Amino acid sequence: MTTLTQEATVVGITVPTGLFIAGQWRDSQGQSRFDVHDPATGAVIAHIADATTHDALDALDAAAAAQNSWGSTSPRTRAEILRMAYDLIISHREDIAAITTAEMGRPLDQSLGEVRYGAEFFRWFAEQTAHLHGNFGSSPNGDFDIITTKVPVGPSLLITPWNFPLAMGTRKIGAALAAGCTTIIKPAAQTPLTMAFLVRLLAEAGVPDGVVNFVPTSSAATQSETLMNDSRLRKVSFTGSTGVGVRLLQQAAPNIMRSSMELGGNGPFVILEDADIDAAVDGAMVAKFRNGGQSCVAANRIIVHRAIAQEFLDKFVQRTKDLHVASGTTPGADIGPLIDQRQRDRVQRLVNDAVQDGATILAGGHPISGNGYFYAPTVVTDVPESSAIATEEIFGPVAVVITADSDDEAIRIANDTPFGLVAFVYATDVTRAFDAAKQIEAGMVGVNRGLVSEPGAPFGGMKASGLGREGGHIGIDEYLETKYIALGRTRP
Ligand code: SIN
Repeated sequence: MTTLTQEATVVGITVPTGLFIAGQWRDSQGQSRFDVHDPATGAVIAHIADATTHDALDALDAAAAAQNSWGSTSPRTRAEILRMAYDLIISHREDIAAITTAEMGRPLDQSLGEVRYGAEFFRWFAEQTAHLHGNFGSSPNGDFDIITTKVPVGPSLLITPWNFPLAMGTRKIGAALAAGCTTIIKPAAQTPLTMAFLVRLLAEAGVPDGVVNFVPTSSAATQSETLMNDSRLRKVSFTGSTGVGVRLLQQAAPNIMRSSMELGGNGPFVILEDADIDAAVDGAMVAKFRNGGQSCVAANRIIVHRAIAQEFLDKFVQRTKDLHVASGTTPGADIGPLIDQRQRDRVQRLVNDAVQDGATILAGGHPISGNGYFYAPTVVTDVPESSAIATEEIFGPVAVVITADSDDEAIRIANDTPFGLVAFVYATDVTRAFDAAKQIEAGMVGVNRGLVSEPGAPFGGMKASGLGREGGHIGIDEYLETKYIALGRTRP
């Protein structure tokens, strides 16, 4: 029986604000809380329990205790719970979208889009659950049989980001639960409320006690270090910056812990000479400005062939100037605020440095005064390839447009980065586009398409952008071990 010990009312919706451990909502052992802000106003909208390392270890105790029974439930039982959770998300979609907009800032219709996207991971993984099969065959010399089976990795720490607070959680939780792993969820400190609401729905869907544990904290580094020192934890899955990913991989090493890392990007958006320019402008608007540019699959650098650069820029700059920047609850808003003052200062520093390096601002280029952390949608060009704005992930509504004189030059520029998460290629000649897509070093390439994210497709990067894939047919493998049994045919 779950008892809510604490709740808050956020935009008229009741949201749990406690920790969830072993099937119980409770306060943190330190009785402390941290503030959650609305980035459109800077106002505090809730105080959420701040898990201590003792709470995190309680969550691991619960996850470890529940592992055997959850790992041995029938696939159909797990599938039905996930499917029920999908239905619950869909029936609460308006509330979830409103909570996300309140704590993350993006326009309400885009939050509703994230709810549908996020829910689909549960439906997708529910459908995968009944298809977890091993193999049976003979050893090459015929002496014995080779049987393989899949077993859950074990208790998993899932660390989720603030930019898609629901979907980045369901992408991990869906795969983990489908595989039979128990979980400890650490949401981003900026956006814990969406996940708290989801955890309550998961309990309502029938997830047994201890299978999903929820430990928001303001001390993320200390929490992950404590948990990862404990060999009962068998898996860490993280979405966030490459710097934090490196630290987590170092912490994972002593216990040889399975690790999935969805890290930073520096996505090139390549427009070849024969591209349909209007289609490229449409694609670039999505790839750049979806989620206000706060996405690891955002187009960071738009690399356009010199022969069509002016026409592209004229159209793209106009569309950028037409974007309506406003709080997420304003009808017709296209772009909400950045997540916090720190991120807005960072974006402004990148733009200022680019101007120092010789860049020209064609639109925006400044914060918007008043409450909240709004930033004007921006286009900069004449950017040297070495400028920080072209080498670092921007994570804001700022488009960098670079020109190239050939396909080869465009591909060279696209690959001139330690990152390799996503790329986009626009060309009319499909063979030419496919050739470029093959040469670009990225885990995902959108061809004549500005969005690649899809639950049924494997999401993940190469190089400094990460390890492993989430979603698609292989997403569940991140939470499974292959076990091989050699079956002798003769009696000893
Ligand atoms: C991300 O920004 O982390 C990914 C967003 C997506 O799945 O599209």
